Amino acid sequence: MSAATSPARSGAIGVFDSGFGGLTVLQALRARLPAYDYLYLGDSARVPYGNRSHEVVYEFTREAVFDLFARGCPLVVIACNTASARALRRIQQEDLPRLAPDRRVLGVVRPSAEALAGLPPGAVPGVTAPALVTGTVAVVATQGTIASDSYRLELGKLAPRLTLVQQACPLWVPLVEAGETDGPGVQYYVRKYLAPLFAGGSPPSRVLLGCTHYPLLLSAIRAQVPAGVEVLAQGALVAERLQDWLRRHPEMEARLGQSGRYRVLTTDRPAWFEAFGERVLGEAFEASEVRLRALS
Ligand code: DGL
Repeated sequence: MSAATSPARSGAIGVFDSGFGGLTVLQALRARLPAYDYLYLGDSARVPYGNRSHEVVYEFTREAVFDLFARGCPLVVIACNTASARALRRIQQEDLPRLAPDRRVLGVVRPSAEALAGLPPGAVPGVTAPALVTGTVAVVATQGTIASDSYRLELGKLAPRLTLVQQACPLWVPLVEAGETDGPGVQYYVRKYLAPLFAGGSPPSRVLLGCTHYPLLLSAIRAQVPAGVEVLAQGALVAERLQDWLRRHPEMEARLGQSGRYRVLTTDRPAWFEAFGERVLGEAFEASEVRLRALS
């Protein structure tokens, strides 16, 4: 019996990131939706994705998503902004209908854009979303995410009168992946990328950390952001909006396992992943090493 016809609650929610930064999203998902099962996959062997070409990010992301499908996940959340920006639409439009019509893949750009515009989950432009949101907001993200212009496109639909300023921060992910999250060196690079956002005439009132790794730099970031500016980390807002999505998709919700467990897979260095990831999840866990299969 296929997953489409079986009502059995057995599938974990897959959570994919290019490395361990997505554990910040897993942590928030488990805090808000603790009943579900989760299967996390971090592609540590090939991180960072942020400086890679569109095509390569698509191929890597597709391999990871289909690996999670093969492990029984009916629903995959692409927690990585770069992968969401570069690969989500193509996977949804080209791969799912052909290869996995009963599975779903969600990304983080749309829910984050909603939150950045101050709109409720599932806002529909022109129906539930007021088009009159004004002011200036900012996104900091990897080069890939900024180059994709995905946030500008989403905000253009949701809140066309909002002004967006964007800043690529190419050195932040390598710092985090190297375990460097605070101290003078980190503060130098945090200031270097944040300062230009506040140098203009209409500085942003809200800054979205548009990369799963950036919440690990939060204390350094907060120290550089002027008082009164809101800093949005994605984990909580993605969890809130996934909860709303599940409410609107009971057919998928009914397929999700609810034993409250999670497993962590990585494509490289599981011991290091466990040691550093423990800081994010706040508890010890076991990471298993896996190889991703190239898809034709
Ligand atoms: N996790 C990725 C994101 O959210 C950034 C890390 C990378 O460059 O691979 O964009």
